Amino acid sequence: MNDTASPNAHAVIATDGDGFALHAEDRNAMLAERDHYEQPQAACIEALKLVQRRHGWVPDGAIPVIAETLGLGVADVEGVATFYSLIFRQPVGRHVILLCDSSSCFLTGFEGLREALGEHLGVAFGQTTLDGRFTLLPVCCLGACDRGPALMIDDDTFGPITADDLDELLEAYP
Ligand code: FES
Repeated sequence: MNDTASPNAHAVIATDGDGFALHAEDRNAMLAERDHYEQPQAACIEALKLVQRRHGWVPDGAIPVIAETLGLGVADVEGVATFYSLIFRQPVGRHVILLCDSSSCFLTGFEGLREALGEHLGVAFGQTTLDGRFTLLPVCCLGACDRGPALMIDDDTFGPITADDLDELLEAYP
């Protein structure tokens, strides 16, 4: 057979029984991160973020693959993945809206904003819009307490946000 395979033909190199495939670039980045620290556990969160960046979320099948790559136990990786609310364990929309429900934002209008967002998107916390565009999630303090109520869309933080801002704000995330 004529070998006309592209350079990416071997990009997927580590898989698990559930069909999860770890991209070679991500594996290399994980190994580099692991070598950067004395304890491989320190590389775990970054490894999870690498998978999430590529796939949009972290499927169950990624956990044993990450564990094997970093030389950690599956339970250790699962524990980290479960602990961090910004690691998504279910498929999410194209954009994730994280609405801060911590004290400063709670006092400056969280509830009204949650209601307005819910009406605007037609979803409650934990749900994704029917068109797959947005997932709405609560989150602990975003570090923008002086600008509450605050929210984050993908990697962008906004605040203070009112119901009147939502049209223009969401329009920027097609
Ligand atoms: S309490 Fe909302 S950003 Fe800190």
